[in-house]
Amino acid sequence: MKIMRIDIISVLPELLESPLNHSIIQRAKSAGVVDIEIHNLRDFSLDKHRKVDDYPFSGGAGMVLQVEPVDRVIQYLKKQRNYDEVIFTTPDGRKFDQKLANRFSTLQNLIILCGHYKGVDQRIRDHLITMEVSIGDYVMTGGELAAAVITDSVVRLLPGAMSDESSALNDSFQDGLLSPAVYTRPADYKGWKVPDILLSGDAKMIEEWKMNNAILRTKKLRPDLLNEEGEEEEGMT
Ligand code: 6GU
Repeated sequence: MKIMRIDIISVLPELLESPLNHSIIQRAKSAGVVDIEIHNLRDFSLDKHRKVDDYPFSGGAGMVLQVEPVDRVIQYLKKQRNYDEVIFTTPDGRKFDQKLANRFSTLQNLIILCGHYKGVDQRIRDHLITMEVSIGDYVMTGGELAAAVITDSVVRLLPGAMSDESSALNDSFQDGLLSPAVYTRPADYKGWKVPDILLSGDAKMIEEWKMNNAILRTKKLRPDLLNEEGEEEEGMT
């Protein structure tokens, strides 16, 4: 299995450090499952003040990320390997979901360019980006947190990233259903009881309960995941 490589380009690399250096993502990196490299866009500025943005030709408020430093970092990376996608995080992109996370997890090399709060020169999007991705219909100050969300959800799917017991195959959304409720000790806390079946030791009954609970939870919490007959919509792959 070849190691997956994710290169993230940002003007605020500090924002990406903590989310990508803990827990499963950290373990996946140490285990050689993924190589995540963060690049400070300012390192690719030719300006003596390391400037990477400028005023828009159209006038108006806010600075715009310039095409030159972005082109330089992407060419620098492309000289070293071929990339399957050059992703740009932006609120007007395609909505990220489990299906897209699954697809990204099958790729070899990815670039993620983090959006800039006031926008980027359109020529970056026209000539360098292969896919524009949003993580939801709300606006954040920049694309860094979105890049962390995408990276996290992709890396945990890679073979070897998680132990069997926390396997991604059991996730909510993977079979078009939410996961069933889970409980742990004590079985009775202040009279708040764990369902009897889960304590019964009857594997078949427990499996049935889990499937039933997953369907009930999905109907109640995310009816949009089910079709009109209350059946699962098309899978997530
Ligand atoms: Cl990818 N970027 C920003 N700035 N805001 C967002 C987003 C991305 N996705 C949802 N909101």
